[in-house]
Amino acid sequence: MRSRPRRNRRTAALRGFLAETSLSAERFVQPLFLHEKPGDEDIGAMPGCRRLGPEGLLREVDGALEDGVRSVVLFPAIPESEKTRTAEGAWDPEGLIPRSIAALHERWPELCLMTDVALDPYSSDGHDGLVADDGRILNDETVEVLCRQALCHARVGADVVAPSDMMDGRVGAIRDALDGEGFTEVAILAYTAKYASAFYGPFREALDSAPRAGDKKTYQMDPANAREALREAALDEEEGADMLMVKPAGPYLDVIRDLRDSTALPIAAYQVSGEYAMLEAACERGLLDREKAVLESLLGIRRAGADVILTYYARQAARWLANG
Ligand code: PBG
Repeated sequence: MRSRPRRNRRTAALRGFLAETSLSAERFVQPLFLHEKPGDEDIGAMPGCRRLGPEGLLREVDGALEDGVRSVVLFPAIPESEKTRTAEGAWDPEGLIPRSIAALHERWPELCLMTDVALDPYSSDGHDGLVADDGRILNDETVEVLCRQALCHARVGADVVAPSDMMDGRVGAIRDALDGEGFTEVAILAYTAKYASAFYGPFREALDSAPRAGDKKTYQMDPANAREALREAALDEEEGADMLMVKPAGPYLDVIRDLRDSTALPIAAYQVSGEYAMLEAACERGLLDREKAVLESLLGIRRAGADVILTYYARQAARWLANG
């Protein structure tokens, strides 16, 4: 035998030297849940994650920076009484998100601040778009208000706006709206291939944002489709997206690879709440080694071709990596 692949795996030094993929804290984005209450609150569906009050938010971001995680994305839990059918809360300049962005931007200008652009946290229908009386999700009307939401975030210092709504044409419209007000440097991370997935369940519980009627299948993608993601990617790129996202991550590694191979834009992947919940459930029962399983799940996402990963494990994984 002349070829013995095991020769390259013999020592830790050889393995380290030859590793094709690596993880680093710089590539992680920490999602954070906010609410209007002063204190923090555990999220039953996502053990280990909390809805944060203003002080909790500052503490978390401070900790994230200390751990080497320099990007965060914010999600608001809005009280039911403040949700409306037209979701005006989404572009209220006094809202929880703009206030939080302003506070973080002022304190840590070096932080990469990302926001979610979609109506579901603010919508009494629990949909990402405006709902017509017959239950249809209105596309062009929604795009118009998403532009207001993106502008509201840009005005207070968001670095990256991330439309997660899956309406057609929203990336181009948001680009024009941002440029129209001089925010040419605010980037757009497009949720390009966002699937109608069961794995968002815990997130919707965290924000109490599940659709009150119907599902999201007329706008989010069919889990059966991969070619369609290439079409979405081509459109988002043409419309001026700066980065493309695949979501969820673990069950869609092939889609991450397909996009990686079809565009020069950076690719992000979102390891969503259900992926987190699955890992946590198994680890809590002692069925998996948390550190090894989580880092392997993240490495797999990187190996598939993701440049950056949004993950609820961002801070934790950064600490594991730092401790070798
Ligand atoms: C909503 C949004 C969702 C997530 C991020 N933005 C839920 C949905 O589309 O229903 C899910 C994230 C997660 O599950 O971790 N625009």
